Amino acid sequence: MSLAPARLPRLLASAGPGRATTLAEHLAGDGLGRPAEVAPAALREEVERAGLRGRGGAAFPTARKLDAVARGRRAVLVANGAEGEPASRKDALLLARAPQLVLDGVALAAAAVGAREAIVCVRERSTAARVALAAALAERAGSGRDAVPVRIEPIPDGYVRGEETALVRQLDGGPGLPTATPPLPFARGVGGRPTLVQNVETLAHVALIARHGADWFRTLGTDASPGSALVTVSGGVAHPGVREIALGTPLRTLLEQAGADTGALRAVLVGGYFGTWLPASVALGATLDDAALRPLGAALGCGVVAALPLDACGVAETARLARWLAGQSAGQCGPCFHGLAAIAGQLDALAHGRAAPDALARLRRWTGGEVAGRGACRHPDGAVRLVRSALTVFAAELDDHARRGPCAACRRTPLLSLPRRGADAARIEAAA
Ligand SMILES: Cc1cc2nc3c(=O)[nH]c(=O)nc-3n(C[C@H](O)[C@H](O)[C@H](O)COP(=O)(O)O)c2cc1C
Ligand code: SF4
Repeated sequence: MSLAPARLPRLLASAGPGRATTLAEHLAGDGLGRPAEVAPAALREEVERAGLRGRGGAAFPTARKLDAVARGRRAVLVANGAEGEPASRKDALLLARAPQLVLDGVALAAAAVGAREAIVCVRERSTAARVALAAALAERAGSGRDAVPVRIEPIPDGYVRGEETALVRQLDGGPGLPTATPPLPFARGVGGRPTLVQNVETLAHVALIARHGADWFRTLGTDASPGSALVTVSGGVAHPGVREIALGTPLRTLLEQAGADTGALRAVLVGGYFGTWLPASVALGATLDDAALRPLGAALGCGVVAALPLDACGVAETARLARWLAGQSAGQCGPCFHGLAAIAGQLDALAHGRAAPDALARLRRWTGGEVAGRGACRHPDGAVRLVRSALTVFAAELDDHARRGPCAACRRTPLLSLPRRGADAARIEAAA
């Protein structure tokens, strides 16, 4: 079979600028080459051959998740578009521009696990995504494309609300809190039924694999990280926004495309507010795939890249993120609730001039094993990962702050965005 030449965009290929693809446009094709049309029974094999990994953060192999959900017990499919990560806009953008592609992925994955019902969770404040999705569902009604009933569920803001056990509890009318108590959703999820939770971008890739095949999927990306991914670039760049990249793309290329002054960068945050600071010298030599990022202690996560220029302060930015992450603790587990608040307190003191002489020693101790791995979910692990990377990457600055107090940049307007009331629609455009 001859394959169409590898090119981007894929996920956003048929989306008109600033609007959602209609069902007619979607059915007319995406211009990515003649469809291979994988038979439904062969989908699981094809997803495995494609090497697709989840795009919601943990990069778990999608075929293995399809296997894990026990078939035949009225399974449920949950499409996760909760997008609790404040620096990410990719899921909202995908849903707003290519809702039909996501819904095809929902229908295919639902059929693959024998689901009787599908629920698409959307971040509540992402109005454009909710409207586009509702319109897309209305267009599909009676088209025969949805084998199971699909409903939309808005999810309020909150970092931990998009975690899969928290999502299941909310869908069952409970609180948006994770739980570590087995059984996990794949065995017993929504309504006590086996539940497959899959990120909305992952499902859109499933739809593309069904349409064009695994060999086509692998024509972009690396052997270990095949395909494309949506990334949200923010911070010190002239053109922030969502871009689709081939996995393995040099981070320098992405930053240049987003209009960063790569000669004046201090550090880059990769993987989101649960992610890892990399010094600029390291980041500019890195590529965006997990095999390359792992030895640097980083991961692409949900595709967030935030650039910190030389005139910004890594201590103040990290202090602000740590305070926010501490506030996102669900308050169920002591080490998470108290530990993250204590870590944020020390960083606040360093950035605002009230640090105790042993502030850095305390931070090293608390992030060294007293908090991470001791919660019901991985929230404290992610928050600690961020702070630990700051302790290394901003070591000299931290030492300076501890001895001399805050720097001039500590008082500047913060660069990295955190949720604000009503601050959504303007930032979800795809970057050209
Ligand atoms: C604290 C926390 C928050 C999370 N938030 C999200 C989220 O907003 N969206 C998402 O898709 N996955 C989120 N995840 C990951 C989900 O639990 C789950 O692994 C994912 O939805 C599975 O989809 P995937 O395999 O397609 O990536 C979060 C995980 C944690 C620990
Ligand atoms: S670890 Fe933190 S966020 Fe996760 S369930 Fe416990 S208190 Fe909540």
